[in-house]
Amino acid sequence: MDNVELIQKAIAAREMSYSPYSGFKVGAALLCGNGKIYTGCNIENAAYSPTNCAERTAFFKAVSEGEADFVAIAVSGWAGEPGLAYPCGVCRQVMMEFCDPGRFIVIVASSVDKYQIYLLKDILPFGFGPNCL
Ligand code: THU
Repeated sequence: MDNVELIQKAIAAREMSYSPYSGFKVGAALLCGNGKIYTGCNIENAAYSPTNCAERTAFFKAVSEGEADFVAIAVSGWAGEPGLAYPCGVCRQVMMEFCDPGRFIVIVASSVDKYQIYLLKDILPFGFGPNCL
């Protein structure tokens, strides 16, 4: 599984987005250490606050299936200008719960040609995680 394949799965998952309120479609593809991939999309709600982001949908699907070892996530939001749509703070915090921030890779993509790769620790510096308790 290379970066481009993971991005392609995130872009495909974006098509499942349920986003009648924002019209902002997001898809994610989460790669586990065992090679399995869990995809997710954003799922909005008429009451707004129950909305779940694509990244968290993917994580919650995976964790609920017993996964505990995560390698990378690709996230793809709006593909037009101004460009890349980065994971929100809540999703970064959820990643912090389940991933090693010095190893977990976050790929932010608008297409297979336009993407940036980060470590979680670089997009969530001084993160608060399970080791802090
Ligand atoms: N959204 C995501 O799915 N992931 C993020 O990291 C940022 C925001 C979704 C939530 C909402 O459905 C829409 O994008 C607009 O905020």
